[in-house]
Amino acid sequence: MCGIMGYIGSGNAQDILLKGLETLSYRGYDSAGIAIQQEGALHVVKTRGQIDDLRKKCAASQLSGTLGIGHTRWATHGEANDLNAHPHTDGRGRIAIVHNGIIENHLQLRNMLTERGYTFVSDTDTECAAHLLHFLYDGDLLRSLLLTARYLTGSYAIAAVCADDPSALYCIRSGSPLVLGTCSGEAFLSSDIPALLPYTRDVTVPEDGETAVLRRTGIQIYNAKGRPRKSTSFHVSWDVQSAEKGDYPHYMLKEIHQQPQVLASPPVTSHKTLNSPQQALLLGCGTAYHACLLGAYYIERLSGIPAHPEIASEYASRIAFPYKNCACIAVSQSGETADTLSAAHTAVNRGANLIALTNTLGSSLSRMASAALVTPAGPELAVASTKAYTSQALALLHLARSWGAQLGKEEDPLFEEHLQHLPAWANEALKTEKLLKAYIDPRADKPLFFFIGRGADAVTAKEAALKFKEITYIPSEAYPAGELKHGAIALIHPGMPVIAVCTQPQWVHKTLINLSECRARGAECVCFCLPHMEKEAREAADFVFTLPDMPPLLAPIISIIPLQLLAYYAACKRGLNVDKPRNLAKSVTVE
Ligand code: G6P
Repeated sequence: MCGIMGYIGSGNAQDILLKGLETLSYRGYDSAGIAIQQEGALHVVKTRGQIDDLRKKCAASQLSGTLGIGHTRWATHGEANDLNAHPHTDGRGRIAIVHNGIIENHLQLRNMLTERGYTFVSDTDTECAAHLLHFLYDGDLLRSLLLTARYLTGSYAIAAVCADDPSALYCIRSGSPLVLGTCSGEAFLSSDIPALLPYTRDVTVPEDGETAVLRRTGIQIYNAKGRPRKSTSFHVSWDVQSAEKGDYPHYMLKEIHQQPQVLASPPVTSHKTLNSPQQALLLGCGTAYHACLLGAYYIERLSGIPAHPEIASEYASRIAFPYKNCACIAVSQSGETADTLSAAHTAVNRGANLIALTNTLGSSLSRMASAALVTPAGPELAVASTKAYTSQALALLHLARSWGAQLGKEEDPLFEEHLQHLPAWANEALKTEKLLKAYIDPRADKPLFFFIGRGADAVTAKEAALKFKEITYIPSEAYPAGELKHGAIALIHPGMPVIAVCTQPQWVHKTLINLSECRARGAECVCFCLPHMEKEAREAADFVFTLPDMPPLLAPIISIIPLQLLAYYAACKRGLNVDKPRNLAKSVTVE
């Protein structure tokens, strides 16, 4: 979703902003713009379309200012067009702002400001904040920002520049991501860390309600009451290369291939101090929700603690949860997903102890939790999540295991050794890449795919179907294998691919019977299974892909890898934009 970037220094602000916006483009956007402060005036260039379109427009204006703000917009209020693109200015063009988030009371503010003579040129919620800022402006932009915030409801990270002030860049945040950084004589702000990495790896995060003033001499943060406070920064361990594609054609392929490395490390921050609860609630959206499903399976299996996975946006209606001594594990790659943040707040208000599992140190979710686990996946920039999922699953396995140990559960003596072997199994799974491509290429135009499995394999099936939907746009269904015959089997038609995941010995036989039922109705059946299941699988399936010889407990962390590749190659074959699928955003900061 929207990304904001700000710069003040001695370099060419336009170039630095365009580069930053390019980095933030993974978040998903459909228009972009910049505002540069130069010689006592603000110059706004914005356009519908891609950063390259903006770059072309900027080339014509040749701006040389050293202070500015930029934005990538993912349309919410008003279609993607030049007028709705950010930055937005007050009517006189003296103040320009960029905004990430939603101003929920924008209609009331629009009416109030229209009555006072302000003219709106866009359909956005953001424009009311630009006019309000002007309405409240008394020559001190910091004070006006704080005042403006009192009238805004919703979530926002706003950056502002003023034509009259060449020495400062201002920002305020509440509920939307914002990170700040400095390096000799320059200061930067951004919605996410990767855009800062070419300049600094020491990052500061303002709290909700705080404002900050960025100058060439440094950054000053002010608390919600407007009092200056000392800022603390944290060091980002990734380097700039980890946020680049390298030799890979897409981020997604790079991130799929990074999984052996990611699975070599446990999550950062000790979970050993986390006392075992009486019950666990797991909240997440999209792929993170699927990690919750797997996490709940691991928690029940390894610790015996009842665990309830919930789609974050649905949690509010589960009014009986939690009851007592409940750990709520909120899972989110970005740590900024509005639905997850809102559900986590609800769980805390209902008495749960919040544990955040994110891939982003300093994210909103990790800062509101009493304990934060950070996955060591490094920046994930493809919209479709891959390495974050496997690292979340592994982190939840570690947590389940530590709770099991606290409760005196016996563990397989080979468990530790098996965990050490995960990267090698991930590498082995990646080796089937050519075979998978050869299988999917001639089938990439099929109108419907089915994925089935039982138990933990049903989770893998769900995640595989989600990858297909997200990047290939092919309707894809995931079903617990046993449930097929209760309705969805009516969709099976000759030639339709049905892909079964079989890694759990206790379910293989039954799943293969369900696969045979599909085959009997003309489906083209595929099975991903462990080596010792291969013979039986060949009797039910037209194609069998053998997974590494690994313990069934760890198999769900590895068996998703070939299915990620399958979706990837299907999307490539269909000529689609794999890293930025239509309509999707990486970080969904609105509910
Ligand atoms: C969006 C993305 C999904 C992602 C989900 C949760 O919907 O398109 O790929 O799984 O958000 O994101 P999070 O950052 O909370 O894990």
